Amino acid sequence: MKARVLSGIQPTGHLHIGNYLGALRNWVKIQHDYDSIFCIVDLHAITVYQDPAALKQQITQLAGLFIAAGIDPKSSTVIVQSSVAQHSELAWMLTCMTPLGWLERMTQYKSKTENQDTILSGLLQYPVLMAADILLYQANIVPVGDDQRQHIELARDIAQRFNSLYGETFTMPETRLPMVGARVMGLDDPTKKMSKSAAGTGHSIGLLDTPAEMKKKIMRATTDSNPAVDFETMGPGVVNLLNIFQAFTDWSDDQMKNHFSGLRYGDLKKAVLEAVVAGLEPIQKRYAEITADPAYLNGVLREGAERVRPIAEKTTRLVRERMGIYNID
Ligand code: TRP
Repeated sequence: MKARVLSGIQPTGHLHIGNYLGALRNWVKIQHDYDSIFCIVDLHAITVYQDPAALKQQITQLAGLFIAAGIDPKSSTVIVQSSVAQHSELAWMLTCMTPLGWLERMTQYKSKTENQDTILSGLLQYPVLMAADILLYQANIVPVGDDQRQHIELARDIAQRFNSLYGETFTMPETRLPMVGARVMGLDDPTKKMSKSAAGTGHSIGLLDTPAEMKKKIMRATTDSNPAVDFETMGPGVVNLLNIFQAFTDWSDDQMKNHFSGLRYGDLKKAVLEAVVAGLEPIQKRYAEITADPAYLNGVLREGAERVRPIAEKTTRLVRERMGIYNID
């Protein structure tokens, strides 16, 4: 039996090349080697206020982009988290046995609640819901970026605590990543990871940006005070541009050095632009085809939910049994 991989992305902001090169593209590469579930986590998105109309639109847009980027809905399962009610159900049962201190220690919670007058309690529970996403399907491997590692550790702690209190129930998810993706930094500030929530129009390149928009952002990207590419002394902005180029073209390190050493930044940026435009063109084309037929996407999401619901039901039934909560026979 194939090991199960599960991962999730929030339907907030616009998916950018950092999400694609760091996560989505790797999912596409590994999807056939695993029993893969890719989750659009709308219940996580609402831990901060979302405009309802925008959220609704972003959920289907994200589903369309998954498929346009190469997720094959015949062999992988794409679900919207809220369409399988057991995510919420299991999250509550896990909440009841998770010590408050474990959640208050989470660095993402601490940074998200800094300088806020009103702290919504969903933000504190966020990692318990994420643990429920993972444990509900007894996932073996959860590929995530570094910023989510602490949440995976917490999911393991919760699983362990449950198993020792109520008996062996949950598979331990592994933090081992099947593949490490490229880490793309902000074009305007190459010391920060490219982020969906960052302000500023020059920060990220969206997967659905037009070539003209991409050009404007790449041409304005931060470099360093050298006049041209110098592999010995280059700053993080130049490293980032070269990384983006290499990720889209799969050039070898030697090819990169030979071609770019001594090249002026204007020419470096033109090359990066060409690589990004060429890399995203097929995705944008497929996206346009997919969204031209809304019934198709609805079908994919309905089928996904139907495929995994029996697994989710089996787990929650077992958890109810273990905890002594009533199960209808
Ligand atoms: N919290 C994750 C993020 O923001 C998204 C997520 C939710 C997730 N549930 C998950 C990732 C389960 C992996 C597995 O990136």
